[in-house]
Amino acid sequence: MATSAARSSAAELLPQPATRLRSRPKTPHLPKAPGPFLKWAGGKSKLLQQLVPLMPPGVELMRHVEPFLGGGAMFFARRPERAYLADVNKPLMGTYRAIRDDLTRVMERLHVLERNHSKETYYQVRSRYNRSRMPRAERAALFIYLNKTCFNGLHRVNRKGEFNVPAGSYKNPRILDEATLHAAHHTLQDVELACQSFETLVEQSRPGDFVYFDPPYEPVSRTANFTSYAEGGFSQQDQTRLRDVFQALSRRGCKLMLSNSDTPFIRALYRDHRQHTVSARRAINRDAKRRGPVRELVVTNY
Ligand SMILES: C[S@@+](CC[C@H](N)C(=O)[O-])C[C@H]1O[C@@H](n2cnc3c(N)ncnc32)[C@H](O)[C@@H]1O
Repeated sequence: MATSAARSSAAELLPQPATRLRSRPKTPHLPKAPGPFLKWAGGKSKLLQQLVPLMPPGVELMRHVEPFLGGGAMFFARRPERAYLADVNKPLMGTYRAIRDDLTRVMERLHVLERNHSKETYYQVRSRYNRSRMPRAERAALFIYLNKTCFNGLHRVNRKGEFNVPAGSYKNPRILDEATLHAAHHTLQDVELACQSFETLVEQSRPGDFVYFDPPYEPVSRTANFTSYAEGGFSQQDQTRLRDVFQALSRRGCKLMLSNSDTPFIRALYRDHRQHTVSARRAINRDAKRRGPVRELVVTNY
């Protein structure tokens, strides 16, 4: 069973189930508030307090399905008993698998990387990551290292699929965060992980699942392009195909929640469903002085 401190921090975020279905094994390094082990563009950590009240009643007992996983802020806050997590980003999902199945090796490697971190090391690691084949745990450690030390935690690849983000300028980046990694390992134990695009959910989902969709957002202006998470981006056609998947799962009896920008296009796509707004602080403007709270849309089918 997790420590009571960790459980109570989750309890602050979410209503607890009346009865737990089964207990988890002890984890020695469970931190007070375990969260994502990666920085991820569009991460939902800061919005959770507004999203939780919009979840369906009885969500605690539902299987948690997240097809646009990214850093998984919602999943790590909820720590559900049963989950199916997916993302189209292959090295990202390989990293989740390595954290679930091979944590010791990932941490050993991160320890070495942390001791040797410098700007020169960053570029050497980046080029090794792009050019060499290596075991999954090794690749996961390099992925986490690059995520923690690159510019703004961005994940961007060139046409050849090579990671090309420059080094960030952090004085003392936290590369090996043992407590968070242990907590993630523990939370991921019985979780199904898949590297796939969202359309496959039509086969994977079951009546009674709670599905949280957090796709790349529809840009709200020409300079605010949030669509380049994966090679190829996420177009309006993709948003429309996602709406079709949303409706198919709704007919199947899943409980659905979706985040996106509050734009006329997204409002029109989901006009047959309930629309709520939440307020996010996002860097959508290059001019820092003009950055302020931005309204986001949350669509539900309940
Ligand atoms: C807004 S981010 C999700 C952020 C996440 N909720 C968090 O808290 O960090 C969107 C994610 O969608 C993924 N993605 C992009 N296109 C996809 C697709 N066609 N199918 C599944 N995932 C996709 C990206 O790799 C990215 O991780």
